Amino acid sequence: MSRITTLAEFIVERQAEFKYSTGELSRLLTAIRLASKIVNREVNKAGLVEDIIGAAGNENVQGEEQQKLDVLANELFINALRNQGECCGVGSEENDDIIVYENERSKKGKYVVLMDPLDGSSNIDVNVSIGTIFSIYRRLDDNAPVTQADFMQPGSAQVAAGYVIYGSSTMLVYTTGHGVNGFTLDPSIGTYCLSHPNMTTPSNGPIYSVNEGNYFEFEEGVRKYIDQCKQKRMSARYIGSFVADFHRNLMKGGIYMYPATTKAPKGKLRLLYEANPLAFLVEQAGGSATDGKARILDIQPTELHQRTPLFIGSKEMVEQVSK
Ligand code: AHG
Ligand code: MN
Ligand code: MN
Repeated sequence: MSRITTLAEFIVERQAEFKYSTGELSRLLTAIRLASKIVNREVNKAGLVEDIIGAAGNENVQGEEQQKLDVLANELFINALRNQGECCGVGSEENDDIIVYENERSKKGKYVVLMDPLDGSSNIDVNVSIGTIFSIYRRLDDNAPVTQADFMQPGSAQVAAGYVIYGSSTMLVYTTGHGVNGFTLDPSIGTYCLSHPNMTTPSNGPIYSVNEGNYFEFEEGVRKYIDQCKQKRMSARYIGSFVADFHRNLMKGGIYMYPATTKAPKGKLRLLYEANPLAFLVEQAGGSATDGKARILDIQPTELHQRTPLFIGSKEMVEQVSK
């Protein structure tokens, strides 16, 4: 049997790459890794256990119906990060405001985490891949109380980011700004194992991913780009779970688009916990991400739940549509 590297080992091996104190990032990633395993267990029960599937009966701040698993995943990640102690606060899709940890250990934490605890939640009940997205920043001032400003840093200031995909297998993929590495969960031993070292994405690819039902609502340049994709006989692939669409395109090459529409002139996806983390990751894999004009990672955020149009994936394709 060839030697297996577990995620726990890998994090320790590579912690010297991290520009702040060693150990801190390891502990943060440990919290995320643990919570994701519990979410994975719960996701796999969907369909069997009544209290997992379906709507939770409330809406989040964006007026979207929360699913039971959205709420559960959110609690699991918030609790795991609080228990670890390196994180002093969390911004989540499922919470109107930032959560500031009050326990003594977490208060001293030097990092804030932004997350989409369950991405693609409309796909939970129909057995289609879903995910978790996370983004980690160093707080602005270790000695001042954590405020919303700590969460409003541009994506270029991220110290780590990644996603978990709960799919035909469960994978955790992350970057600390030194390339991208992917780990597959071996369910028989409950351990993430390095399966995709040094992931890179092709500069061009055969896939375009967009909700084409909105075609007549896109601006002309985007419509023309989509027309060209068809003329080139490219493959249209759209799951409706951003993480899953992104992961496939990262592996195979392609572009994912969620452009502005006449109904949603700022697009649908959220800058801080959907666009930024995957923009950081795609750049680390050799790809690119823009809002149609500007680089996603350069945008100065103004609101916690701010939306942005998004074009992300293979570099040449993103450049072409962003001209
Ligand atoms: P979430 O489940 O976290 O609210 O995210 C849903 C997002 C994203 O995952 C997906 O790509 C997109 O919404 C799909 O939107 P449309 O149904 O409008 O295509
Ligand atoms: Mn999402
Ligand atoms: Mn979500």
